[in-house]
Amino acid sequence: MEMTANVFVFDTPEQLAIAAAEGFVQYGHEFQRAANRFSVALAGGNTPRRVYELLATERFKQRVDWAQVELFFGDERCVPPDHPDSNYGMVYEALISTVAIPAKNVHRIVGEGDPGESATLYERELRTFFAGASWPRFDLVLLGMGADGHTASLFPGSDALNERSKWVVTTKPESGGHDRITLTVPVFNQAARVVFLVAGAAKAERLAQVLRPQHLPPLPAQGIHPVAGSLEWFVDIAAASFL
Ligand code: 6PG
Repeated sequence: MEMTANVFVFDTPEQLAIAAAEGFVQYGHEFQRAANRFSVALAGGNTPRRVYELLATERFKQRVDWAQVELFFGDERCVPPDHPDSNYGMVYEALISTVAIPAKNVHRIVGEGDPGESATLYERELRTFFAGASWPRFDLVLLGMGADGHTASLFPGSDALNERSKWVVTTKPESGGHDRITLTVPVFNQAARVVFLVAGAAKAERLAQVLRPQHLPPLPAQGIHPVAGSLEWFVDIAAASFL
């Protein structure tokens, strides 16, 4: 593994996932010691699935006090939880169904039903959990990045990128597909720790653009810079091939 600044390059996606699972455990201990809770906003898509699967294995799950873990989602596709495209469904299958996390600690975005109403409901749930805060401060945010530089459901050219007061908004990929519900840039940037998980050659050129600030117009993933927290990129060699 090679490190430059906050970019950690791993030989394989599996080693990336193992490192991310280890980070989850370590960060969890750090925050649980301080506040007896560990709030996490999970990434959707395919890359993080292996991280969640690893956290559900004996090697990792015994090292997490799941009763103190609060699982949220960075975004969701507007589909039912049992739909193959549901981020919640993916995390449920890979992790939630296996570990002893109390149901009340899993904060699902309601993908079925009216997107606007679900976004309002999710923001209300966040404001209840982060009671009194002007912005939520997640202990850990996991994010992925699309080959177009999007992250969560913040897509290039989307009005959602400019949202500076709401915590949760609805969006839709220009390329079509499901309506989405996503946390906004200010929410991600209030996190204590943000870790991007990026693997595969298909993302290599875009990753190089994102990590070199002169790309114009700025790509969504470039807009994620915690104001008082850490930003780390866990990438594999294939995704790092243009760095
Ligand atoms: C989603 C994610 C999205 C994802 C990227 C990368 O709901 O799909 O929030 O931002 O992280 O599209 O997806 P892969 O990991 O599948 O390449």
